[in-house]
Amino acid sequence: MSEDRILHPGLRARLMSAEQAAALIQPGETVAMSGFTGSGYPKAVPQALAAHIDRAHARGEDFRINLLTGASTAPELDGALAQVDGLAMRMPFQSDPNARKRINAGKLDYLDIHLSHVAQHVWFGFYNAIDTAVVEVSAILEDGSLVPTTSVGNNKTWLDLAKKVVIEVNRWQLPEMLGMHDIYYGTALPPERKPIPMVRGDERIGQTTLRCDPAKVAAVVLTDAPDRNSPFNPIDDDSRRIAGHLIEFLKHEVARGRLPANLLPLQSGVGNIPNAVLAGLADSGFRGLEAYTEVIQDGMLDLLQSGVLRYASCTGFALSPDANEEFRRNLDFYRSRIILRTQEISNHPEMVRRLGCIGMNGMIEADLYGNINSTHVMGSSIMNGIGGSGDFARNGFLSAFLSNSTAKGGSISSIVPMVSHVDHTEHDVAVIVTEQGLADLRGLSPKQRARQVIAHCAHPDYRDALQDYFERACRDSYGKHTPHLLPEALSWHQRWLDTGTMKA
Ligand code: COA
Repeated sequence: MSEDRILHPGLRARLMSAEQAAALIQPGETVAMSGFTGSGYPKAVPQALAAHIDRAHARGEDFRINLLTGASTAPELDGALAQVDGLAMRMPFQSDPNARKRINAGKLDYLDIHLSHVAQHVWFGFYNAIDTAVVEVSAILEDGSLVPTTSVGNNKTWLDLAKKVVIEVNRWQLPEMLGMHDIYYGTALPPERKPIPMVRGDERIGQTTLRCDPAKVAAVVLTDAPDRNSPFNPIDDDSRRIAGHLIEFLKHEVARGRLPANLLPLQSGVGNIPNAVLAGLADSGFRGLEAYTEVIQDGMLDLLQSGVLRYASCTGFALSPDANEEFRRNLDFYRSRIILRTQEISNHPEMVRRLGCIGMNGMIEADLYGNINSTHVMGSSIMNGIGGSGDFARNGFLSAFLSNSTAKGGSISSIVPMVSHVDHTEHDVAVIVTEQGLADLRGLSPKQRARQVIAHCAHPDYRDALQDYFERACRDSYGKHTPHLLPEALSWHQRWLDTGTMKA
């Protein structure tokens, strides 16, 4: 059917079914797949591999693989492989309910890694060598180069380092996306590294296709299946308030001369609250904004359409089905305004620092002193992973963390004396925002930060208890620089477990 998408005759000769391609993957292999947030992941081979593994398990054979990707994927990949207990190790980020269940049951080893670190750590040889890469493309050109699809992620690294390669050519992906990608091949290893030759977020420094040694290609599989991302929730009042506080703060920063009128390149995490911030920016009066970020979600398409956003640089899309349709319908409009890069560049600390990105990410909880937990419920149960939040929090011009002030219908406070797990330390956090308000922590000592967080971010139902804790800690703490009462600090979480608010 779609053999016209395979212009290299030698690779056309390697066409086979997903089942045949999956059978090339052996038990215990380290397999690196494409995919970043429900876009650009292989759609057929992972499912065929899951069926293959399931049959092996039924015969009493041990068959699991180590799986690397760009970031989270979709039910056809993470979901299918987790469902059949086909994963021994997973990295660097996932958000699949089946995989999460297995990780939190202690049955799947999960390495939660800064997304900018992944490719270089694989090049450094920190992990197992990659046996097989499975990468989705929209076409194979005459010279064997590959046209990327809706995410780039770590594909360049996977294709360069894998011993064998399986390519899925997905007819659903638009070949007209050729030209939207910027694949930079200039990253060397220390001590040979050179500066990344980019000073603006809309510059192109690489090539439009992925290179791949045809001799390594073991299989080419044809597919015709859509990317899959969930629709966003309708924006609720609390998300609108959070967005409002952040936008007011950004305007204040412009008025004080600390930010230019069109701000600095925005990084927006995934999720409903960051999406609400993007929606809020649409009516904010800002113009000529820029986005240098990981993923493009619905709100960014709207901002591009209205001209509020000038361009967006990313490594993948996280579009709802409706927004996906909009993107596909108006590809001509978006192709000159969106650049897809490898995630080692989209999240590169050098770029984030040079451009002065404004990081805006969700969190599970924050503590009085500004430490952030983005990943663990009750300190032990992973939700998703750190993703790129640390790349932007540590290196950006400003870093904001956003959340409702309570979780689980108000029965848990997202502001706590001491976070039960630390992803972003007090040294990396400029601003914390809840629907209650915004705490600007810049230039403050720990005790000054605590007063801001309690006054501006805590929910009124928990404010007095937090204030009481803080005052007693200031009085009775061993040290008075960052006052704490150990072990009372973490008794908040224990109480939620003991009372059954959180199921253990
Ligand atoms: N205590 C216990 N559970 C909490 C909680 C808290 N303080 N805060 C949130 N949760 C739970 C919610 O109840 C929900 O669980 P449920 O689905 O079982 O109800 C879940 O965490 C997600 O919370 P939600 O309020 O829906 O927020 P979200 O979709 O905006 O996600 C994060 C918030 C932190 C999970 C998300 O932003 C994330 O994964 N961040 C880390 C990765 C990242 O920042 N990437 C950015 C670069 S793209």
